[in-house]
Amino acid sequence: MHESSSHHSLRNEEKRVLLGITGGIAAYKVAELAHTLSQSAVTVQTVMTRSACQFITPLTFQSLTGNPVHTELWESNASGSMTHINLSREVDVIMVAPASADFIAKLAHGIADDLLSTLCLARNCPLMIAPAMNRQMWENPATQRNLAMLRSDGIRIVGPANGIQACGEVGMGRMVEPTELAEAIITFWQNKHLLINKKIVITAGPTFEAIDPVRGLTNKSSGKMGYAIAQAAVEAGANVTLVSGPTDLTPPAVDKFVAVISANEMLTAVQYEIPSTDVFIGVAAVADYRVATMSAQKIKKTNHNLTLELTPNPDILMTIATASDPPFCVGFAAETENLLENAQAKRIKKRLPLMVANWAQNAIGSDDNELILLDDQGEHILPRAPKLEQARHLIQHISTFFKP
Ligand code: C5P
Repeated sequence: MHESSSHHSLRNEEKRVLLGITGGIAAYKVAELAHTLSQSAVTVQTVMTRSACQFITPLTFQSLTGNPVHTELWESNASGSMTHINLSREVDVIMVAPASADFIAKLAHGIADDLLSTLCLARNCPLMIAPAMNRQMWENPATQRNLAMLRSDGIRIVGPANGIQACGEVGMGRMVEPTELAEAIITFWQNKHLLINKKIVITAGPTFEAIDPVRGLTNKSSGKMGYAIAQAAVEAGANVTLVSGPTDLTPPAVDKFVAVISANEMLTAVQYEIPSTDVFIGVAAVADYRVATMSAQKIKKTNHNLTLELTPNPDILMTIATASDPPFCVGFAAETENLLENAQAKRIKKRLPLMVANWAQNAIGSDDNELILLDDQGEHILPRAPKLEQARHLIQHISTFFKP
């Protein structure tokens, strides 16, 4: 009895990765990765495409990992179960290395015509890829388009590196070294617990303040940054509530999604959540004003000037941050001038332990962003990068405030 329970707790800590290998000369280096991971007590399952088997044999990986290597979608097995579903359910993360241009194209379009592409489509765990290809294949707009789709699907792209290529050309497209890939995979497990058991509430997007039944006041916020932070918080193991104004985005797999329209609705939704919340991140571009009285009927056109009387909206973040016993509050300041001075002044005024400053013209609607984190320790610059990457760094920074 005692033996089986200790075995059980060991299994709970077990780290399991699925290595997907596609056709590229860098496949030989992935043997080193399989070896490193196996030596670090990671259980490694391997799936190879047919082209991968042209570069290196399944036997190599079977020997290094101690597990059978899968290559066929239609392989029969003793239990009669479905390999593509089972394999992806039995691991914590999938790493495809090298990821060829062809495989990246398939991933981007949801094509499932062999075991590896099918299990990537059927997965319910995070996916990382390490692209490797000739520099011109890398630079080709088709490849870059596909990569942009993968990024926005939350797939992590590790590399590629710059340097000499197998074909003799020099440029971007080399697979990053196996040690770096191993590091990316190990970091994944570390980050997975960063905010475990913490409840995080995030506001995102614009608000829409109705003027009449068909018109309203809003702004150009896309919601991308807030949704990326929600995604990163989910990855860090937090319990996440995303309160969002109107956006065109598909929400990440959060625990609770609340769609709101106006600032007042957003405040009500946030206040409902706050008593049990550890971290509140106000990313939404909340309208500062709404019309004093909304017209019940569509306002008619005339030849005269029309004056709308505006009344201030509540400041959601300040309301939460200045109440008694607030959660850890994080604000976003989008400025068009004097970025740091303005952001710091808002941080003090709203009593925020952490303020994220960004240039409005860089941030709004774009996929990339540069962020400056302001806290009691000073400034931390996160250089320009895709919003999801920035979001992961921000979540990591927030987690440092919760270290015992
Ligand atoms: O004061 P300013 O609007 O520049 O501050 C930006 C920060 O305050 C953002 O984090 C935003 O979500 C929050 N905010 C808010 N309610 C408002 C205005 C801003 O929560 N009415």
